[in-house]
Amino acid sequence: MRRRSILSCLAAPLNLLRAQDDERVWHDYLDWLRRQPFGLADPRSAYLAELKRQGLDEHAAQARFSLIERMRRARPDDYQRAFFDRTYRSTEPRFQSKPNELLAETVKSLKPGLALDIHMGQGRNAIHLARLGWKVTGFDYSREGVEAASKSASSAGVRIEAVVARHEDFDFGNNRWDLIVMSYTWVPLAEPWTTRIVAALKPGAILVFEHLMDSSGSDNAAVWLPRPNQLLQTFAALRILRYEDVRRQADWSWRPERVARLVAEKSEVSGPVHRLQE
Ligand SMILES: C[S@@+](CC[C@H](N)C(=O)[O-])C[C@H]1O[C@@H](n2cnc3c(N)ncnc32)[C@H](O)[C@@H]1O
Repeated sequence: MRRRSILSCLAAPLNLLRAQDDERVWHDYLDWLRRQPFGLADPRSAYLAELKRQGLDEHAAQARFSLIERMRRARPDDYQRAFFDRTYRSTEPRFQSKPNELLAETVKSLKPGLALDIHMGQGRNAIHLARLGWKVTGFDYSREGVEAASKSASSAGVRIEAVVARHEDFDFGNNRWDLIVMSYTWVPLAEPWTTRIVAALKPGAILVFEHLMDSSGSDNAAVWLPRPNQLLQTFAALRILRYEDVRRQADWSWRPERVARLVAEKSEVSGPVHRLQE
């Protein structure tokens, strides 16, 4: 009995050390991945070669990569963030680096005020708005993206509030923004996010949304991609000013795609929103 409790006392610190080791292996891999060029076709082989270069034998390198693959399944969020960091570090942008067209058209008729750019990436939309006189806050969990946005804002001679944050932790506020931009965002089109975004708009404020449409009908489809007509339901608390389901060159794709676009306004007196806020 006593022997068992001594063994379990020893096991706890050992497990902690093992967990710390796993973390280190995972973060070393992510740091390496962030520095890789986009053309890298086979990250697994490249990383195995890197581990061998560091002195690991074949068996140890394979064991380490198996751990990385387990971590990748357990931590998809870390992996995706590293993917976006790598995207924004790249000198050849794999996305449209000009402002989103729907946003640019929409704001032509709006008086500048306070704008929130959700998942702003490298700031192409935030900077466009700041140039037009909007006071812009943009946030994103990619540190590389936010740094690129801050740098581009300085070069353009404008100020933006650029924040490294996850939407899970960001305080959207209530009745706070005159404009909210959701350009190719990864925010789930579900509660509590819809209510938070609608509540964050001031009465009379505008939401601009554009993203690839998911028409697969699959239960496994990404929760941030709108299904056909879904935006009309998701943002039914708003007055829909413009809705399009079109095939066009998408900002985050290299070929024409089915794209969902929405411009909506929070009414001065909006029944469903009041009900959601109660
Ligand atoms: C497809 S990009 C769009 C970027 C930008 N809005 C644009 O249109 O160029 C999606 C962005 O969402 C960010 N992102 C994904 N999940 C996030 C999360 N949970 N919290 C904060 N940012 C996130 C990524 O870092 C990435 O910059």
